[in-house]
Amino acid sequence: MSDPYDPFKDPLLLDHEADGIRELDNTLPRWWVWLFNICILFAVGYLGYYHVFHLGDLQAAQYVRENKQGEAVKAVALKSFEESLPTLTPSKDPAILDHGHAIFLRNCAPCHRADGGGLVGPNLCDDYWIHGSNFVDNLRTIVNGVPGKGMLTWRGVLKPSEIHAVASFIYTLRGTHPPNPKPPENQSQPAAPNIYE
Ligand code: HEC
Repeated sequence: MSDPYDPFKDPLLLDHEADGIRELDNTLPRWWVWLFNICILFAVGYLGYYHVFHLGDLQAAQYVRENKQGEAVKAVALKSFEESLPTLTPSKDPAILDHGHAIFLRNCAPCHRADGGGLVGPNLCDDYWIHGSNFVDNLRTIVNGVPGKGMLTWRGVLKPSEIHAVASFIYTLRGTHPPNPKPPENQSQPAAPNIYE
């Protein structure tokens, strides 16, 4: 314990002590005090704005509002994609085809096999098609799916650009001959002549 009557003692040094730690009672720096005051003012303003007068949306309401805006943007994009669908042709851009390949491996290969030879879903490499052989038929099948037959609906799951990319990729599988392909089933009609080649 320090001696309270020690003439050399720092006048700011307080008398109490805990495990050898002692307190120097100096004034807080001005900048620190101002920061503290500003924090209090900010808190009052924040409380009033959000919780008392309800002038701004809280996080949850903001999330719902932005989600709604996002859904509207998505709906417009999908509508214009579906309207432009009959005019689309397969892309030959290697970057788009690579992107389409990655999408195919991630989303479609579990059912159509990585090489497109068919598994649960039909072979995408041969000349036999259930839902039409041209590119636009493929796009439609991907967008709408085949409910009840196991082909998923990709509308709203993949972006329009991704649907176009993956359809362009599977277009490159045509005429390839992967080993042990799934034989044609249900497909009564061989492919119609390809209008894009
Ligand atoms: C859960 C399994 C499954 C997944 C995942 C799947 N498909 Fe399919 N797909 C099927 C089945 C089953 C059919 C056949 C539907 C029928 O019999 O009418 C099919 C049919 C198709 C057809 C039409 C084939 C024809 O002969 O007309 C295309 C094109 C196609 N799928 C592309 C895709 C693409 C691209 C993806 C990935 C984005 C994908 N599929 C993901 C199961 C799947």
